[in-house]
Amino acid sequence: MTKEYNVAILGATGAVGTRMIEQLEQSTIPVKNVKLLASARSAGKKLKFKGEELTVEETTPESFDGIDIVLSSAGGAVSKKFLPEAVKRGAVCVDNTSAFRMEPDVPLVVPEVNSEALKNHHGIIANPNCSTIQMVMALEPVRRKFGLKQIIVSTYQAASGAGQAALDELAKEAQDYLDGKDMQEDAHILPTKGDKKHYPLAFNLLPQIDVLEDSGYSHEEWKMIHETKKIMLGDMNSPEIKVTATCVRVPVPISHGESVYFTVKDESATAQDIMDAVAAFPGNVLEDDIKNQIYPQPINAVGKRETFVGRIRPDYENKGAFNMWVVADNLLKGAAWNTVENAEYLVKMNLI
Ligand code: A2P
Repeated sequence: MTKEYNVAILGATGAVGTRMIEQLEQSTIPVKNVKLLASARSAGKKLKFKGEELTVEETTPESFDGIDIVLSSAGGAVSKKFLPEAVKRGAVCVDNTSAFRMEPDVPLVVPEVNSEALKNHHGIIANPNCSTIQMVMALEPVRRKFGLKQIIVSTYQAASGAGQAALDELAKEAQDYLDGKDMQEDAHILPTKGDKKHYPLAFNLLPQIDVLEDSGYSHEEWKMIHETKKIMLGDMNSPEIKVTATCVRVPVPISHGESVYFTVKDESATAQDIMDAVAAFPGNVLEDDIKNQIYPQPINAVGKRETFVGRIRPDYENKGAFNMWVVADNLLKGAAWNTVENAEYLVKMNLI
């Protein structure tokens, strides 16, 4: 008989959590029961799983009794508090927050890229940052075929990456701007919750995602650097590929864009070779037809599981160097889908 799993979704009412419910509905995981967990604020709220109405519960350590799989996206502090409790009770957790990503015994996994790392789990698997996921999806086929020397990325990140409240804030600011009102009063969350100052995102660009460090970089930028190395090379500090990032929040609701400049070891590689490698990689869609003005756009990626890649072209001033443009739904491949996909692989690989 096929094994069936009890699944808990922690943060089930959030921008990512609600999509985890949908992705789990569509997944190959044989689900016995689903438990929806959030804070006391939304306890009692009703949400549906496969047409059945479920009541959201307040999260306590005991919530995880009898649970086999936890999918979590309720913020780093909540994960730190509850996931060890879930593991103690025998659950395997796929965590979408940054709480455990850099711990050496926690696999950081994009299944198409490094599913083998799942074998080393000790109860917690980390889902990478949304901007890292789509970049490694686009670059892993290039690394495998031609080797990578350096990556320079600039991101164009959607408001939903900062949660449902940031999306609501953007909508209010946009309306107020069009009504000729002051947007500053609407800004309470972005650029990052809890920081000293808040700025409007509507009709603006904010070159700060997460907190800024004394190093001059934001937390998000360091995440892209260290996570890319850990996923591709198994070592967050590996000098093998040089990575640098500039992360920018843009007034787009859903789907991140990234301008990625990279250099390869095998300088015989052509732009067509890069396109062929990207297109052949599972989970990627090549949208690169400049004659017909075809290139990835955030509005077209919303609701899709794939990573879209286009504008692949050589740097004519530097041999073995290329530019590309990468777009994915940050709430799906960047979060909910990659989390559920990791759980699917854990089931398929008999690791739960
Ligand atoms: P709640 O709706 O009860 O606040 P988003 O990323 O869209 O901001 O969503 C965050 C998610 O994390 C929500 O589901 C939210 O639930 C949940 N959450 C926030 N704080 C806690 C907490 N202390 N315990 C459990 N869930 C929490």
